[in-house]
Amino acid sequence: MLEVDGIDVAYGDVQVVWDVSFSVTEGETVALLGANGAGKTTVLKTICGPLTPSAGDISFKGESIGHLQQDEVVPKGVTHIPEGREIFSDSTVRENLRLGAYTNRDGMRERLDRVYEIFPRLEERKGQKAGTLSGGEQQMLAIGRGLMSDPDLILLDEASLGLAPVLVEDVFDAIERINEEGTTVLLVEQDVNNALRIADRGYVLESGRMNLSGSAEELATDDRVAASYLGG
Ligand SMILES: Nc1ncnc2c1ncn2[C@@H]1O[C@H](COP(=O)(O)OP(=O)(O)OP(=O)(O)O)[C@@H](O)[C@H]1O
Ligand SMILES: [Mg+2]
Repeated sequence: MLEVDGIDVAYGDVQVVWDVSFSVTEGETVALLGANGAGKTTVLKTICGPLTPSAGDISFKGESIGHLQQDEVVPKGVTHIPEGREIFSDSTVRENLRLGAYTNRDGMRERLDRVYEIFPRLEERKGQKAGTLSGGEQQMLAIGRGLMSDPDLILLDEASLGLAPVLVEDVFDAIERINEEGTTVLLVEQDVNNALRIADRGYVLESGRMNLSGSAEELATDDRVAASYLGG
């Protein structure tokens, strides 16, 4: 479904990603792992539009998307849930969710019902201003809003960051369920154990290079995965 083929990515003159290749097959959950600054967010932003590779290409369902902008990629079925939530604080939960469907307003009601089924808390708080939600509720809203465009592939950047352990479990359970209901998932995570618990496969970025990949079981027991998080 997604093929990332030998991409280099730079911010101005400063290259931070070198010759990165990986793929995601329809129906999979794939984890992209690596230490702080390894280039995980950069790779996701290159897939979903704001950044463009200086070499290599990215294809989605066989079509090149490496040079498309975000507003061109979303209608093709790719949604990105950025690091740091980025919800509209002064709008209500329901308004935020409706905004997520901007590229595809058909079946809005059904999609809203699906999001409320996955995150019942959001339905309870649908009239509340998003800025007054708790951190965990805001994260649920960010994921729910991403689902409103009915994506085939969802890119999740640190969905569990800063959440209490009990909420981390809830968010990972929700991601697992979203995948089981047919959405392919590429997730970036510092929480390696939980990520590999729900993922089929994973890739490890080290200083902008992809040096390690394998099944979730292989990576969970690979010392080099732990080492890469310690910067070793
Ligand atoms: N807008 C920017 N301008 C210049 N350099 C940047 C920019 N954004 C990120 N970088 C640099 O690119 C490198 C990769 O950053 P990136 O955000 O992709 O890492 P990451 O793996 O997502 O890290 P983290 O786990 O901390 O979120 C870092 O060295 C970072 O300082
Ligand atoms: Mg990041």
